[in-house]
Amino acid sequence: MSEIDNLAQATMKVIQDRRSIRDYTAEPISDQDLLQILEAGRQAPSGENAQPWRFIVVKDAETRTRLGALAGGGSGRRFTAEYVTKRMQERFATLQDEAKKRAAFEKLTSGQVSAFLADAPVSIVVCGKKDVWDMPFDTSAAIENMLLMVTSLGLGACWVIAPCIDIRDEERIKALLGIPEGFKAVSILSVGHPARSHRPRPRLPLQSLVFAEKWGEPYIKEQP
Ligand SMILES: Cc1cc2nc3c(=O)[nH]c(=O)nc-3n(C[C@H](O)[C@H](O)[C@H](O)COP(=O)(O)O)c2cc1C
Repeated sequence: MSEIDNLAQATMKVIQDRRSIRDYTAEPISDQDLLQILEAGRQAPSGENAQPWRFIVVKDAETRTRLGALAGGGSGRRFTAEYVTKRMQERFATLQDEAKKRAAFEKLTSGQVSAFLADAPVSIVVCGKKDVWDMPFDTSAAIENMLLMVTSLGLGACWVIAPCIDIRDEERIKALLGIPEGFKAVSILSVGHPARSHRPRPRLPLQSLVFAEKWGEPYIKEQP
């Protein structure tokens, strides 16, 4: 196999092995690994090469506890809104087991989801320059690059937007971390050593996602 084939296989493996990891051991992340992760973020593409991202590395336990509380609260409010607007019921429509469904609703609306952020040894707070038009896309590219580097280092991470959705929470994060006006806290990456393995979450089949030339005509005719 050629060097290019090997590289393509290795790249696909990293992409497919990436999972959102929310349980971590207490083992810290080495500075060497952290720098590699941040460098992967720095290398991301951005519209007009604006590079509107800034990264705050948070290891302090008290700050992480505050971020975890904000993340839990943000998640709770988001899922409560999904519940009262019936979006959540639609999402779980195929789940027949009523007890399981109720338990899932309880868990999601309780505010506990995303609170795991407090338990990750490192949080990388991704900030974006607000006056850059493509900033949400640019920072997303940087985040994905970092997630892939995390995976290739054998570490685990999760992209957490929950504490950055509600503008009141975002103001609290800005005050907590001294983020200046003109920047927005976009998302937080929790990083740590995975405490257990995770099954992949399902993906829609490629056939249903890709069209040939125009919307509607399947590009992939047969099951690969
Ligand atoms: C934009 C974005 C925001 C996300 N925000 C959260 C979050 O606030 N809390 C959380 O626990 N997971 C969050 N996730 C992780 C998703 O739940 C996860 O990517 C999805 O369920 C697919 O699972 P996988 O990453 O293991 O493939 C987020 C992912 C993305 C891309």
